[in-house]
Amino acid sequence: MSRPLIIAIDGPSGAGKSTLGRMLARELGLLYIDTGSMYRAVALAVIESTISETDDVAVGSLARRIDIDLAGDPDSLRVTLNRRDVSERIRNDDVTHMSSIISTIPAVRRAMVERQRELGKRGAVLNGRDIGTVVFPDADVKFFLDAVPEERAERRLTEERETNPAATYDQTFADITERDRRDTTRADSPLMAAEEAIVIDSTGQPIEEVFQRILETPLVLQEENLKKCLDEMEGPLRSTVTHWRQMEAYRILMPEDSPAYLKELFCSNLRALLEILQT
Ligand code: DC
Repeated sequence: MSRPLIIAIDGPSGAGKSTLGRMLARELGLLYIDTGSMYRAVALAVIESTISETDDVAVGSLARRIDIDLAGDPDSLRVTLNRRDVSERIRNDDVTHMSSIISTIPAVRRAMVERQRELGKRGAVLNGRDIGTVVFPDADVKFFLDAVPEERAERRLTEERETNPAATYDQTFADITERDRRDTTRADSPLMAAEEAIVIDSTGQPIEEVFQRILETPLVLQEENLKKCLDEMEGPLRSTVTHWRQMEAYRILMPEDSPAYLKELFCSNLRALLEILQT
């Protein structure tokens, strides 16, 4: 039986996880789940309630009660909180700050992890802080995307300036450092790379370049699986080898500026190969 593909992308704020997650989900035809936006939705619910963020029990219970939904394709993901579209609102500073606080509460994490497993069970690219370690420890491919804090702050500042022209580098850098500290030191599922994660440092690299490296990685990983197929299966083996050869050819023949149809052919072969390898 073929099992759905799960790709985990973890890493600190501003490392480029969302951009890469979206690109990868689109390329592989998978659902994209940005788990950070779920914590942000909980944070907004707290802000709009009379509950204090220091009341772990009340915040945990609120997190279980509210309805959070992620809909739409990877490039236009909409987030709803109790059926209200909050996609833009959850990007504001107050929510960013609050989400960093409430995501340290174990009851909130339990509620979110449960939903994320349910959402992702049919296959997905998920990004967050604990996907490869806690949410889907048996994910097929795990990436840990990092970059030096100065560059992550620069990237965040560019985003922030779209809505707040007065944003400063010093403030953004201080915020990122504080969120890093909370993410990595919390007792429940702190941010860390899973043992088998592929660690990618995106410092000084255009996102497109990192994306190409990521896209190639599953192929490299599957070489091991291919060997297993060679030993174990006769039927699927033949088609696997066929697909593999085709893909190798495309990789060699496909220059950076390949036409879209060639890229599509490459990706449909990748999908077919993944399916065979997971049978
Ligand atoms: O990735 P982001 O900035 O949208 O995440 C918002 C907050 O949620 C951030 O402070 C870390 C937290 N978070 C988490 O604890 N675990 C996740 N899987 C995703 C996000």
